[in-house]
Amino acid sequence: MNVILFGPPGAGKGTQAQFIVERFGIPQISTGDMLRAAVKAQTPLGVAAKSIMDAGGLVSDEIVLGLVKERISKPDCDAGFILDGFPRTTPQADGLIALLSGLGKHIDHVISLEVEGAEIVQRLSGRRTCPSCGKGYHVVYDAPVVAGVCNVCGATLVQRDDDREETVKNRLDVYWQPTSPLKSYFEQCGLMRCIDGNGTIQDIQRQICAILEGSTGDRP
Ligand code: AP5
Repeated sequence: MNVILFGPPGAGKGTQAQFIVERFGIPQISTGDMLRAAVKAQTPLGVAAKSIMDAGGLVSDEIVLGLVKERISKPDCDAGFILDGFPRTTPQADGLIALLSGLGKHIDHVISLEVEGAEIVQRLSGRRTCPSCGKGYHVVYDAPVVAGVCNVCGATLVQRDDDREETVKNRLDVYWQPTSPLKSYFEQCGLMRCIDGNGTIQDIQRQICAILEGSTGDRP
């Protein structure tokens, strides 16, 4: 089962991807996480990507497609995968469809999490992430047992550099320009399912399960 989680920054893609990983046993492919890992390791790709990410812009289609191609070809993706934060432009979507077709694969579901701007700002300003195991939290909506400490590995939680207010605004602008038109792209493929992403994390998990445990969508 191959799934795309779609939606604006802070819609809950990463949160729900973690749930799908546990429930369905397929890996999460987050281009944001892969790019942040490259930044942390100070690879040439990471050095090139850092200033773009800090400004809330998009890293080049060529770089991101290369990362996804390498990741999807790994054996743990044979039974399926969840794409989180990819594709974000029409060339990325075209590249993905071509890549999957070459591998004899296809997308089964595209799930769009629909959340309004004010809620997004609240979510991103309260987000905290474990720098060690990657688990995500929110200081109010999904708080760790001990404030500031990861439930899983005990590391001190951090705030993402691009969750600053001015960068969030740019990330939202980027979503409304090159990224949101992909909704109609996948609607035309017959794959898009929209969920009201303003409910609780558990409400949204239930709606995602209903889609993923239901019938397979039409294929592009
Ligand atoms: P990326 O890491 O993909 O960031 P994003 O798309 O902006 O998404 P986020 O991770 O901010 O949000 P999310 O939807 O995963 O929300 P989350 O679940 O954490 O990309 C970062 C940067 O990398 C981009 O700006 C770009 O520069 C670059 N990049 C990445 N992919 C790229 C690509 N394909 N092409 C080019 N450049 C690319 O939830 C947010 C918070 O809300 C959390 O605290 C969570 O606990 C809480 N929460 C979640 N659900 C709920 C709920 N239902 N109710 C209450 N709180 C909730």
